Amino acid sequence: MARKLFVAGNWKMNTSLAAAKALASEVASLVGAQDAVDVALCPPFVYLPAVKEAIGGGKIALGAQNMFYENDGAFTGEISGAMLKDIGCRYVILGHSERRHVIGESDEIINRKMLKAISDGLLPIFCVGELLAEREADQTMEVVRRQVQVGLEGVSATDMLKVTVAYEPVWAIGTGKTATPEQAQEVHAMIRGLLVNMYDKTVAEAVRIQYGGSVKASNAADLLGRPDIDGALVGGASLKAADFAGIVNAGK
Ligand code: 13P
Repeated sequence: MARKLFVAGNWKMNTSLAAAKALASEVASLVGAQDAVDVALCPPFVYLPAVKEAIGGGKIALGAQNMFYENDGAFTGEISGAMLKDIGCRYVILGHSERRHVIGESDEIINRKMLKAISDGLLPIFCVGELLAEREADQTMEVVRRQVQVGLEGVSATDMLKVTVAYEPVWAIGTGKTATPEQAQEVHAMIRGLLVNMYDKTVAEAVRIQYGGSVKASNAADLLGRPDIDGALVGGASLKAADFAGIVNAGK
């Protein structure tokens, strides 16, 4: 069966309450009724309930940008998967490069979050991707392979079907420098091959692999047209409803 494209907007640490509501409503009016592409919005934690209300009962799903790997207790400042579930989140982004490289999350921490998110009933969007220095040193495949293997340790084949992988080369994030469709496809194909080894062909062919890094309406169709690119994780362009809708529509 062909994989359905999945486009998610990662708003990062942007918007205000008013802007979040307005953006979500506008996105809902533009692409909330279509069913050809799965769509999710991932606003900052504090705006999740407002965005949920703004997207209403349409087809757009709600996602969070992070979570902690414990259930509850003395973890000041953290948010649990159960809390995200409780307020209506379907997805959670894990291992985003900004959490890896700005906050310092390790593959092992991301793996703990992965296992907890799945047991909490959330669908992880699991980000991997190499730094510019790693690409220049020809280490892209090795770095991404390690991130995938460690991040998914202990995830069963059945649970792997709940995971979306997002390949986001760090040098392409927020820089306006998109990976070429060929560069992205090459890494996506490697990841899918790795999933065949770690699981089996059926699982590998069912898992969606999004590309992220300066995706815009103008380059989306070319990226989404590649055989192993099954959607996009969009940062900057997800902050403008028309731009984001343009990316979703490019996948139809
Ligand atoms: P940009 O689309 O702003 O490059 O960000 C990509 C990203 O990090 C999405 O998670």
